Amino acid sequence: MTTTLTRDPAEAVSVLEGGGTCAFPTETVYGLGALARNPAAVKAVFEAKGRPSDNPLIVHVADLEGVENVAEITNVGRRLLEAFAPGPLTVVLPARPGLAPAVTAGLDTVAVRIPALEVALEVLRRVAAPVVAPSANRSGRPSPTTWEAVLGDLDGRIDAILQGPPTHVGIESTVVDASIAAPVVLRPGSVTLDQIRSVCPDARMSGLEAERGKSPGTRHRHYAPRALVTVVALKDARPDIEAAWIGLSAPPAGYGSVTVCSDLEDYARRLYDTFRRADADGVARIEAERVEDEGLGTALSDRLRRAAAR
Ligand code: TXA
Ligand code: MG
Repeated sequence: MTTTLTRDPAEAVSVLEGGGTCAFPTETVYGLGALARNPAAVKAVFEAKGRPSDNPLIVHVADLEGVENVAEITNVGRRLLEAFAPGPLTVVLPARPGLAPAVTAGLDTVAVRIPALEVALEVLRRVAAPVVAPSANRSGRPSPTTWEAVLGDLDGRIDAILQGPPTHVGIESTVVDASIAAPVVLRPGSVTLDQIRSVCPDARMSGLEAERGKSPGTRHRHYAPRALVTVVALKDARPDIEAAWIGLSAPPAGYGSVTVCSDLEDYARRLYDTFRRADADGVARIEAERVEDEGLGTALSDRLRRAAAR
């Protein structure tokens, strides 16, 4: 198939409404959209990504009414959505019938998100039906933060790409299990545990691996470039012309490429693009500076650890 590039939201809407697959930007990363009630369209998403069928998808909607159409909104779910939606938060809620079965991978819950980027909301409002949108990368690769990265991974495998700006947050949404009375963060993101606790004081981080298994996606290798990633402190930096550095500190001289970020937000925003550029340039090794496991640092540490996992 030929992948159409467009800047027109109306074209993205017509591809989706026709049962096609269309990538579109959100404030976190680009998603690969398809109608969540259309089994063939959902199947095409799994195939394009090479995604394991046991890994369920996030359903994107424009507003609370859209959430209500696909899920039962629990008390904690309502509190979280009122505080952080639209935004980089995904809530896991009891699912209502009607979604293509593959969306939830057989679970009785569904993950739902209202993105904040205006062009994404515009598409979702106009489609007026739930849209699945996993990150628009080949399974296992870093999530795409630019339309060019989507094209690099999925050219010829999807119907269209809505070209938008590079994404602002740069890492995927915080996923919170809100189907239970004391919510659990299954995937850390830019909405931090402290922020979540400001509206749900009982919330906690998922600790146990078994519990992580509840968010099937966290079981798989993820977010990884081809280059070998190591997470290091500045004092352990080993400069090498074959290696790239990314971090908050300026490293010793000698790296083939250096990305110094101004703060944690900037680090998160630039991480995946740095991974992808390193791969394009044939870099063998990436050293990523370790960050404190706190606030946005928790999400960043999680992605670095996964990218470094072998
Ligand atoms: O920022 C984001 O969340 C991006 C943008 C495009 O919205 N999307 C994204 O989707 O990262 P994806 O499919 O790459 O990650 C979805 C995560 C996976 O870890 C998946 O296992 C988890 O959400 N998930 C989906 N449904 C779930 C459910 N019912 N229970 C627990 N975890 C679920
Ligand atoms: Mg993903």
